[in-house]
Amino acid sequence: MTAKPKVWVSRPLFPDVLARLAQYFDVDAEAVERRHSAEELKRKLAGVDAAVLGLTDRVDAAVLEGNQRLRVVANLGVGFNNLDIDALTRAGVLASNTPDVLNESVADFAWALMLAAARRVGAAERWLRAGHWPGSHMRFDDWLGLDLHGRTLGILGMGRIGRGVARRAAGFDMRVLYHNRSRLPDEVERECGAALVSKAELLRQADFLVLVLPFTRENRHAIGAPELAQMKPSAVLVNIARGGIVDDAALAAALREGRLAAAGLDVFEDEPNVHPDLLTLDNVVLCPHIASASEETRRAMASLAADNVVAALGYGEVAGKPPTPLNPAVMARWTASKA
Ligand code: DGY
Repeated sequence: MTAKPKVWVSRPLFPDVLARLAQYFDVDAEAVERRHSAEELKRKLAGVDAAVLGLTDRVDAAVLEGNQRLRVVANLGVGFNNLDIDALTRAGVLASNTPDVLNESVADFAWALMLAAARRVGAAERWLRAGHWPGSHMRFDDWLGLDLHGRTLGILGMGRIGRGVARRAAGFDMRVLYHNRSRLPDEVERECGAALVSKAELLRQADFLVLVLPFTRENRHAIGAPELAQMKPSAVLVNIARGGIVDDAALAAALREGRLAAAGLDVFEDEPNVHPDLLTLDNVVLCPHIASASEETRRAMASLAADNVVAALGYGEVAGKPPTPLNPAVMARWTASKA
């Protein structure tokens, strides 16, 4: 009997998803959430045919060096800036991500952050929990926040998640502007009620600016001190994309000095470390990268990652056709090398 292919799952995952993988594979699943060093990753990946990885697992040429066995890495996330796709492709390793299944949950969460930051939900809750309400004379003009309705929503990066954020704006009677590498087709603009503007115009006009662009070398500090200086002092910035797109030190300075009203952040430059200046401010809502963390969506992401491994290694109903590959050309090379 031939041995089952070996799969490493780098973080705790839903038991039913692990059970599905175990139908086909010899599964080694981590029971505890933790970061893996490059050496650990290298060692783990050298001994398996496939891996299901989290966004903190960084796979680059050095990690892959000398690896003769690995064929698939399935990322638990739509963003894949933790994977060096060129290095994986050169090494003949198929990579996959989890697009689409999280769009609506992440779009919901952008609104959670917009509302919480504008209406000071975090600060008010901290004040209440600290026991200040009983006995305090809360003034009629305390806790004043910003309205969303009737304001201008700006979206930087208008992919599937950005469009979900835009569609929801109709319920708040907001005008929607966006900036993107390319203009959306007319019907999509109509459906989103959104108009394309330059980045400078977006910064100038947005009352709420939501960042939904992928993290690339070019996008590093897409929102830094110069961009923050172009925004209205009454504006609210929301980042649900990736840390590093915003210069966190510059943002903290703008929030502290009243050059920006508030911010809602789900992602940070040095996750899981948060810039210490942000932690001292009351006008920023800070969340630990949970925009996709609804029960249904995290399950759907885990299942999709498993589907990719199962199919890529030639099992299941769609054997040979992983649903969301990032470098599908690699599979043609596998076929050619078998022939
Ligand atoms: C993603 O999928 O890239 C999200 O950031 C995960 O929550």
